[in-house]
Amino acid sequence: MKLRHYLQFSDFTRSEYQHLFERARIIKDRFKRYEPYQPLHDRTLAMVFEKASTRTRVSFEAGMYQMGGSVIHLTTGDSQLGRAEPIEDTARVISRMVDIVMIRTYEQSKIERFAAYSRVPVINGLTNEYHPCQILADIFTYIEQRGSIEGKTVAWIGDSNNVCNTWLQAAAVLGFQVHVSTPPGYEIESARADLAGAAHYRQFADPKEACRDADLVTTDVWTSMGFEAENDARRRAFAHWRVDAVMMRAARPNALFMHCLPAHRGEEVTAEVIDGPASVVWDEAENRLHAQKALLEVLLIGPVD
Ligand code: CP
Ligand code: NVA
Repeated sequence: MKLRHYLQFSDFTRSEYQHLFERARIIKDRFKRYEPYQPLHDRTLAMVFEKASTRTRVSFEAGMYQMGGSVIHLTTGDSQLGRAEPIEDTARVISRMVDIVMIRTYEQSKIERFAAYSRVPVINGLTNEYHPCQILADIFTYIEQRGSIEGKTVAWIGDSNNVCNTWLQAAAVLGFQVHVSTPPGYEIESARADLAGAAHYRQFADPKEACRDADLVTTDVWTSMGFEAENDARRRAFAHWRVDAVMMRAARPNALFMHCLPAHRGEEVTAEVIDGPASVVWDEAENRLHAQKALLEVLLIGPVD
């Protein structure tokens, strides 16, 4: 089988996503019926975390065990990564011992260097630039709730971060629109989000205008991991980029609200919205498990009929 990595959303095609979403649905249904599905017997996933995690760790670890495999959990502090062993050497060693690797780190270039020296598939579990596993689960959640996302409009309110860049990549692959509103000085970096000549993207100065007629409104923390030193400046700059009931009313009547979590109620979203009827954040979080099990299956076994 050809070696495939999942380093950014654009690594897979639209038809490969159709397969992944269908497999995620089947794997989820079987899980809900307590039907064992263990095609990854004897397979090992190494997870490397250079940043904190709750959802990504639990979903990959539980998912791998549920599919019959096992997991090794490494952090910067408890591995030689924290003592400056080169990423290329780490990749060569780990990938001789396990079947697949998931990495959460800082620069995208770091995970790309790891993948270049890895004998086994590498999955991006979040970098400063992208969070493809999150958007995989988010779009699976949208499809479950509302059907195809093709032709729909997603409003992104807040920071032009890793999750935002990945929504923009997904829009190009799957054929939907993203309306983005960021505070001045926090705009999208065009190259990171593959925006050259993009027809799937519009920028709005006013966050409420970005939400107008949207099918899905989504946001994320004002300060991502690794940018904590900017926290005070960001709190001031983002004060009007809080998703509230007024913004949700500008969206379509059946619009959904999503947030990758962890959330800060009263900062990027009001409690009324995240705990309100449009919010699907708990399904969204759960679907990390099912969507990533489909991803592990595809990368380790290949497409399954
Ligand atoms: N959404 C997400 O990736 O959550 P964690 O940081 O808890 O893994
Ligand atoms: N943008 C956030 C997402 C956390 C899951 C961060 O990078 O910290």
